[in-house]
Amino acid sequence: MAPHPSLANTAACVFDAYGTLFDVTRLVEPCRDRLGDKTDVLARLWREKQLQYTWLRSLMGVHIDFWHVTGEALDHALASLKLEDPRLRSMLMQLYLEPPIFGDVVPMLTALKARKLRTAILSNGSTTMLAGAVNGHNLRGVLDLTISVDEAQVFKPHPSVYKLATTKLGIEAEKILFVSSNGWDAHAAKHFGFRVAWVNRHGQTRETLPAQPDVEIKSLTEIPALLGL
Ligand code: LAC
Repeated sequence: MAPHPSLANTAACVFDAYGTLFDVTRLVEPCRDRLGDKTDVLARLWREKQLQYTWLRSLMGVHIDFWHVTGEALDHALASLKLEDPRLRSMLMQLYLEPPIFGDVVPMLTALKARKLRTAILSNGSTTMLAGAVNGHNLRGVLDLTISVDEAQVFKPHPSVYKLATTKLGIEAEKILFVSSNGWDAHAAKHFGFRVAWVNRHGQTRETLPAQPDVEIKSLTEIPALLGL
């Protein structure tokens, strides 16, 4: 099969983690009994604040790792819903160490590895959080590298984060396909110089940010065919 015209001769695929490989919308399910009708709003607010705090801290120049940002975002979300409870907080935080995985991840990564493509994660997640997720789902055999922003000491979408992938893989940006379900991440990665696939899992409206992803797909299952594999 012929590859998509913009994706011919791709040498490596680099994946965002949360929302793309790991399902943050289902993350809080084990606590649904305790959270009741506040489950969905808590999940949404927690994620929104987590991302906002990464952007704000990057602009403020006050970096701490994603584990701590995730905790601070959770504290805000729990307080705003009048759900402050140290045991509940601890249970919710533990869920980030082994988040649920989307069903299309392992078959897609296995197909890429069978064709000898290099594969990596590039994520805001801390080294410890990413190790928990990768090991918990036995992804070591289908991923060459797991790259955390810990080394850049700043969060996405700072260009120095995307540069980590080119440096670590030793491959120029224009030969790397970056895959993210986060629209803002997809635009920023394209602006940096990657080829980009936006996995629009939830039918979201396209962002009006600089640079357009090369392709928009609904599921990771589409990636091997786009690469002509
Ligand atoms: C990540 C966030 C953006 O994994 O979901 O980098």
